[in-house]
Amino acid sequence: MFAGYDPAEGKGAVKPPIYLTSTFIFPNAATGAQHMESAYGVEGVEAPEQPGYIYSRLANPTVVGAEQRLAAWDESEDAAFFASGMAAISTTLLAWSGADRPVWFCPPLYGGTEHFLREVLPGMGVQVVELNGLGDLDAVLEREGRRPGLVYLETPANPTMQQHRIASAAEWAKRHSTEDHPVLTVVDNTFLGPILQRPLEHGADLLVYSATKYLGGHSDLIAGAVSGRAVAMQRVKEFRSFLGGTLDPNTAWMLGRSMETLHVRVERQQAHAEEVLAFLRTHPAVASLQSAWPVDCDAETAAIAAEQTRGGGSMIAFEVKGGRPEAFAFLDALKHFKLAVSLGSVESLAEHPASMTHAGVPADVKAATGITEGLIRLSIGLEHPQDLIADLDQALKVAVPAQTA
Ligand SMILES: Cc1ncc(COP(=O)(O)O)c(C=O)c1O
Repeated sequence: MFAGYDPAEGKGAVKPPIYLTSTFIFPNAATGAQHMESAYGVEGVEAPEQPGYIYSRLANPTVVGAEQRLAAWDESEDAAFFASGMAAISTTLLAWSGADRPVWFCPPLYGGTEHFLREVLPGMGVQVVELNGLGDLDAVLEREGRRPGLVYLETPANPTMQQHRIASAAEWAKRHSTEDHPVLTVVDNTFLGPILQRPLEHGADLLVYSATKYLGGHSDLIAGAVSGRAVAMQRVKEFRSFLGGTLDPNTAWMLGRSMETLHVRVERQQAHAEEVLAFLRTHPAVASLQSAWPVDCDAETAAIAAEQTRGGGSMIAFEVKGGRPEAFAFLDALKHFKLAVSLGSVESLAEHPASMTHAGVPADVKAATGITEGLIRLSIGLEHPQDLIADLDQALKVAVPAQTA
C-alpha cells in the first residue's frame, strides 16, 4: 500500500509531493541530446546510465510513484497510468494489433471497448474476430488462417458477469506465440481488481483497468491503467507517449492515496454485496440474478470462478420481472442508491445497461449476451447494507406491485 514513495526522498513528508511540472531541466546539452535521441531510437545512441525525467507526457515522478504502487498490488513487472480507462484500452489495442495482427475477443465487453473494437479498429484495417467462448481456439485459427496479435477478455464481464477462463486463453496464446509474432492475452480486470483476481498468475500478459472504478474508489476522478509483463508494457508505454493519453500528476496523486485503502474498501464492499445478494436471490420481483460468486453461476462458470477469483466482488446484475417500464420505475423509486453509470465507488450506484452503459451495443449482441430490458446493474458501496436492502425492497414494491403485494 505504500510502494512507490520513500519519505526520505520527500523531505520526510508522510505523503508524496505532487510534481506539477511539464518539463525537466537537463544537466547539460549532451545529456539532454542523449535522453531525447535514445527516446526516439536514433541509431547508435544508448540510453543514459542515469534515467532522468524529460517531459511529463513521457513520465512524471508523481505518476511513476502511483504506477509503482499499482504494480506492487498486481505483483506485475510494470504499470502505466492513463487519462481514462478507454485511453488505456485503446492504446493497448493499437499497440498490439495491426494489419497482420487481428484482435480476437470474447463478448460481452464494456460498451466503449465494444464500440472501439467493432467500429473503430476495423476502419483502420485491423480485423476483429468475435469468439464464441475459449473452448476451440484451434478451430477459429483454422477458419481465420491468421494468428491474432492478442486475445482480449473482460472477466467478469460488464454488465452480465460472464466469466472466462484466463488460463485457457493464455495457454493457447503462448503455444501460438513466436518471437516475431507474440500472441498476447489481455484481461480487463476492472470488476474485481488486484485484490480479488490476479490474471497474471493465470498467464495473462497485460491487465487493463478503468482506474475510475475501484482503484480510485470515490467517483471523483477519471483514469485508466495497464499493468503486466515488462516486454509487453514497453510497447504500451511507447504508444502512450505518442498518442498522448498520459495521466496528470494531480489525478495520479489521488490514485496513489486511494490505493492505500484499496484492500479495505474492496473487502468491505464485497461483504455488503453478499448481504444484498442474499436478499435479492429470493425476492419475488426478481426474475434472474447474476453475480461473480460461484453460487450464482452455472457449473462451468462456478469452476472458473473457484479457480481464478478470491471472491465475487460487489457488482450485481438482476432482472426485474417485466421489462423497461418496470426497470425504470424501480430506478426512479430508489432513495439511497444513486441513479448513475460507473461503479466501484464508496456510494452505491444503480443503472439500466440496455439504455445507458450498453446503449450502443447492437440488438443481436444484447440478446445473445443477456442485456435485456429488465436488467439492472448495481454497484454496492459502503453504506449500511440494511439501508441498501430496505431501499431495494421499497423500490421493487413500487416497480412490480403485483409480485410483492
Ligand atoms: C469494465 C470497464 N472497462 C473499461 C471502462 C472504461 O473506463 P473509463 O470510463 O475510465 O474510460 C469501463 C467504464 O465503465 C468499464 O466498466
